[in-house]
Amino acid sequence: MNKTILCIGAGYVGGPTMAIIADNCPDYKVIVVDKNEARIKAWQSDTLPIYEPGLDEVVKRTRGRNLFFSTDIFGGINEADIIFVSVNTPTKTFGAGAGKAADLQYWEKTARDIIEHSSHDKIVVEKSTLPVRTAAAMQRILQSNTKGLNFEVISNPEFMAEGTAVTDLQHPDRVLIGSMSTPGGQAALQRMLDIYTHWVPREKIKTTNIWSSELSKLVSNAMLAQRISSVNSISALCEKTDANILEVSAAMGLDSRIGSKFLKASIGFGGSCFKKDILNLVYLAEFYGLPEVAAYWEQVVLINDYQERRFVAKICNKMFNTIAGKKIAVFGFAFKADTGDTRESPAIYVCKMLLEERAKLAIHDPKALENAMLELADETGDISYCTDPYEAVKGAHCIAVLTDWKDFLKYDFRKIYELMEKPAFIFDGRNLLDHKAMFDLGFNVYPLGQSALSHLK
Ligand code: NAD
Ligand code: UGA
Repeated sequence: MNKTILCIGAGYVGGPTMAIIADNCPDYKVIVVDKNEARIKAWQSDTLPIYEPGLDEVVKRTRGRNLFFSTDIFGGINEADIIFVSVNTPTKTFGAGAGKAADLQYWEKTARDIIEHSSHDKIVVEKSTLPVRTAAAMQRILQSNTKGLNFEVISNPEFMAEGTAVTDLQHPDRVLIGSMSTPGGQAALQRMLDIYTHWVPREKIKTTNIWSSELSKLVSNAMLAQRISSVNSISALCEKTDANILEVSAAMGLDSRIGSKFLKASIGFGGSCFKKDILNLVYLAEFYGLPEVAAYWEQVVLINDYQERRFVAKICNKMFNTIAGKKIAVFGFAFKADTGDTRESPAIYVCKMLLEERAKLAIHDPKALENAMLELADETGDISYCTDPYEAVKGAHCIAVLTDWKDFLKYDFRKIYELMEKPAFIFDGRNLLDHKAMFDLGFNVYPLGQSALSHLK
């Protein structure tokens, strides 16, 4: 049996997933290809293109042994039996469905490359997150080949989160494999099981029909995001009523039917997928003539936007209704801790709104400064980027905590207070800091979904 696996797309998903497969399946050869030469070069170097705890070690162990990174997409297609497609599927920005539907141009391009460069039958695995029923289109394109080749399409969505990718991939809650019920589909399913059972207990591998698998991925992300928007909406009510969102979340989470995860109030969810996948779900509901379903899920995104706006409005309001010309130290730009990724980070939108109010921004982040610069490259306001937190706070009127980096907890806040203008404010958009301790140092503290601790009369 040919045990060569190809992955098209060496991004946040393709790189780590294939490294874990190679590590656990030494009897397979795993090739990861990408059209982006710089990205492939980085995967071949000592500085990997993405930061993920534990990933360097796995790549070091496997690279050159049974894991290979290459730009030879066509050669890889011809060599492998099993092709994972892990290309990006962003929100469409043009034409029908713009702003909501998934842009499948990269996806379709890979299907056409596969037809053109294959000389034997293959299994094509949907690793990217895709609209339900994409496999039907994929199968139709692939079967249109004139070489008499057979292609089986499998859905195997990825559930890893950034920052914890290695642990999530090594110990997944579940692996989902959707397949066709035909003999060919079932044989392809068996080939997938052969791979995953190298390290995932069989009871954690869920097999379904292909449409359920595709839809489960979109809905899993939508449900997670919905919990965050639910709790964020309640954080606004807490601020009006002196209830405390931490206590409310903890009390709710103790109900085993609700569970405690994803109930942390924040300035909003970010990341490359939540918003795009919900909008895609909204589009699908509209497409299938279900406007009520579409409106229900769209509200999750609208509350997220509201939470970002509400945070900025609070900063303006509490700092005497103007922040024009005032320096604001932004602590954290990544969309969450332990990653340098800033895609759809709430910090982007918060910073843009602060700049509209003519605030001066000093942005500090342990891993995401380069990406922050790219995200704000078109902004004309007064922005500085500081690797040193003490530089960022010098002469600042307030600190806005936008990412939950634990590193911030180690900073010397007495020194920080001394370096800042007075009255000094903290707006903690992640409820990260010890608010009482900050208040005792002299700060006016505005947590999220909790009463303010203010020295101002
Ligand atoms: P990414 O943008 O980091 O990587 C995609 C890569 O595919 C890019 O490097 C791009 O150059 C390459 N590519 C695009 N078209 C190509 C082609 N025709 N030939 C060769 N290479 C091509 O994206 P990502 O974050 O890895 O996400 C990939 C998919 O996985 C998306 O559908 C996403 O929704 C899904 N997903 C992402 C995560 C995550 O944490 N980022 C988690 C689960 C699922
Ligand atoms: C998310 C999902 O958790 C993964 O299962 C999924 O595979 C992935 O999307 C994807 O499809 O791309 P990720 O975006 O990496 O993973 O990160 P999360 O940990 O889910 O965080 C997303 C956002 O929600 C972050 O901005 C985070 O700060 C925020 N969040 C998370 C909260 O505001 N509150 C919480 O309680 C949890």
